[in-house]
Amino acid sequence: MNAPRRIYLDNAATSFPKPEAVWQAMDRFNRGVGASAGRGAYREAVEAGRILDSCRDKLRRLLGVAEAARVVFTFNATDAINIALKGVVRQGDHVVTTWMDHNSVLRPLSELEERGVARVTRVRASAEGVVAAEDVAAALRDDTRLVVMLHASNVTGSLQPAREVAALAHARGALFLLDAAQTAGARPVFPDEIGADLMAFPGHKSLLGPLGTGALYIREGVDVLTLREGGTGSRSEEDRQPRDLPDRHEAGSHNLPGIAGLEAALDYILARGLEDIERHKRELCRSFLEATAGAARLRVLGPRDPSAREPVFSVQIDGLDCQEVGTLLDAEFGIKARAGLHCAPLAHRAIGSFPGGAARLSFGPLNTLDDVAAAAEALRAIARASSG
Ligand SMILES: Cc1ncc(COP(=O)(O)O)c(C=O)c1O
Repeated sequence: MNAPRRIYLDNAATSFPKPEAVWQAMDRFNRGVGASAGRGAYREAVEAGRILDSCRDKLRRLLGVAEAARVVFTFNATDAINIALKGVVRQGDHVVTTWMDHNSVLRPLSELEERGVARVTRVRASAEGVVAAEDVAAALRDDTRLVVMLHASNVTGSLQPAREVAALAHARGALFLLDAAQTAGARPVFPDEIGADLMAFPGHKSLLGPLGTGALYIREGVDVLTLREGGTGSRSEEDRQPRDLPDRHEAGSHNLPGIAGLEAALDYILARGLEDIERHKRELCRSFLEATAGAARLRVLGPRDPSAREPVFSVQIDGLDCQEVGTLLDAEFGIKARAGLHCAPLAHRAIGSFPGGAARLSFGPLNTLDDVAAAAEALRAIARASSG
């Protein structure tokens, strides 16, 4: 009997599958190494340390930054964002974010607001899901300490004017934190060129590493207080957290099986090249937009220009709840997509799909044009059937 067809289109949540080498590297680590890094001088502990350093250096290369120590391992993008926000924002500070941002930004900021630490301005976005740099400029104040914005939306795929916003923030003496959850590994993203003082990103989405991996880049001169303290395997005689990076922000044992897998994923990405991945993703965008254009009862939200977006598509079908669309995609076509608000309620407000939400199909670097064709055909078929 043939296995049921499975087309995984939830890459905006986490990518699947991973390159075979990722699974092999994790297996090799788990079976053959299994030790914590920086905690011993025996062979396996040294090997764990080597993997940690080597993975960090590959992230440095990918980001085009000078110092690997400024790339701190985290457990996901949310973890990196929390370290950055809570380590930078001080009592009485003003923070600017946007309606397109994810709950991983919105919720920590609401918490800081509720605790009376920060005041927050949330800048609106267009119906296509794009924030205007001028609107961010208008929100900046003398006491603005930080501007935090995502690079591409996890709802509409829309790219945001990160460079312009960074320059505006700097002109007013504020720092800029970029949430690159949907772009790191999907296209060249160089924080120093963009002007990101801090950049948070997951290892498990377009970087193709395993779940439980992520990182925060901290530009030289940016002081980030710790979110947590603990053992680092370094300066163990001192009872205070080391001040040097990356140990300052890496308390406790690392997710080394995940980091071993991430290193293998970075080998894949560095060999293939970010430009090639970006080209491929633009092709997926173009193909999906073309294949769904003009379909009766089917609406694809977000920019129509393939070069203005990542291949993350929220769709609505007239007369159908988005959960029903998600269920039909899975049950009838083996397509794994996510329906709802995608942890971004304000983004759905901006584009007019709140509170119902939308079904989201998100393509990763390993998806093919055949996957796009199958997804578009499935959506057209569901839309046709819904009219009867
Ligand atoms: C824009 C954006 N920011 C942050 C996150 C959180 O990422 P993680 O699941 O790695 O914490 C996501 C995940 O979907 C996202 O799309």
